[in-house]
Amino acid sequence: MIELKKISKNYQTPQGLMPALEDVSLHIAPGEIYGVMGRSGAGKSTLIRTVNLLEQPDKGEVIVGGLSLINLTKPDLLKARREIGMIFQQFNLLSSRTVAQNIALPLELERLPRRLIKKKVAELLALVDLSNKADFYPEQLSGGQKQRVAIARSLANKPKVLLSDEATSSLDPETTNTILELLKRVNQELGVTILLITHEMDVIRKICRRACILEAGKIIEEDTVVEIFSHPKSTIAKRFVLSNLHVNVPPPLQKILQKEADDQSVPVVRLTFLGKKAGEPLMVSLLTRFNVLTNILQANLNWVQDASIGMSICELLGTKEAVVQSIEFIKAQGIDMEILGYVNRAANFVE
Ligand SMILES: Nc1ncnc2c1ncn2[C@@H]1O[C@H](COP(=O)(O)OP(=O)(O)OP(=O)(O)O)[C@@H](O)[C@H]1O
Ligand SMILES: [Mg+2]
Repeated sequence: MIELKKISKNYQTPQGLMPALEDVSLHIAPGEIYGVMGRSGAGKSTLIRTVNLLEQPDKGEVIVGGLSLINLTKPDLLKARREIGMIFQQFNLLSSRTVAQNIALPLELERLPRRLIKKKVAELLALVDLSNKADFYPEQLSGGQKQRVAIARSLANKPKVLLSDEATSSLDPETTNTILELLKRVNQELGVTILLITHEMDVIRKICRRACILEAGKIIEEDTVVEIFSHPKSTIAKRFVLSNLHVNVPPPLQKILQKEADDQSVPVVRLTFLGKKAGEPLMVSLLTRFNVLTNILQANLNWVQDASIGMSICELLGTKEAVVQSIEFIKAQGIDMEILGYVNRAANFVE
């Protein structure tokens, strides 16, 4: 449904030509919800904006619904764009128009008869569950409601494709979930193919089956969501997945963390579980085998279907010898482990 072939895009800046996309190719099948994730500045917005040619690539081909867009005449491009809806982080609603009038806008541009517009707007309002807000102005709505208006508007022309540029990034987690549920319904009930970009791994995890990671204008990894999150192949992908778990050394501990071990210190370790390992009772094993207590300081565990991704930062409390044996044991289990430093916790030793 969406095909990008070897897209390159440079921006003219005071420092010269800066590459924003380099040789990016993507193939998104009809009916898919496909995610592009990446850090700020990776080129995500540039990428999604090339799909409807809001951004003209320097090189490459853009094919949507079997139609190559690059060499279309302006009227033909405008026609093709009607098949491609788009929603944004900042909603982009017109503040001087009511909810119903905002949704009606694309239909008015199509010069549809008034009665038909009224009927369609009513259907779209029902779809996004905002029938009771038809005459409200955007400023009278919550962020989630505004995004639902924007989604209704983007669907007015019955597009085949919906592009979502960080549509949930300014919403709280609960509202994000309602918007993601709505996007899922739009995909399943209306058959709209969705391309969404985000810097939030959670969004991708919740609604996409396939995704890619964009880094400095290049796709560095593409796979099913389960595979990307449970077995990221490149170092950058791994770092991206893990940084999204937001597990860091707590600030009070940072202050007392020593680089070197001494007689009275215990190690603070970061354990990373990618794939199935997180379900195994590691901490019980450390206690029963070595009499080492695991004091969890920070932890996060996510599930992507039946694979788990987790990270925890903990102190290993035990005699020096037992702690050394535990570390060997953890490594032997194939769990990624990094010693972050040592803290003086002699009083907590388990004898
Ligand atoms: N109009 C422009 N002129 C010059 N440089 C630009 C322009 N738009 C984007 N860039 C640069 O291109 C790169 C990619 O920007 P882009 O907006 O696509 O990133 P992004 O992944 O969407 O980031 P974010 O998550 O912050 O929205 C950045 O280095 C940015 O500074
Ligand atoms: Mg962006």
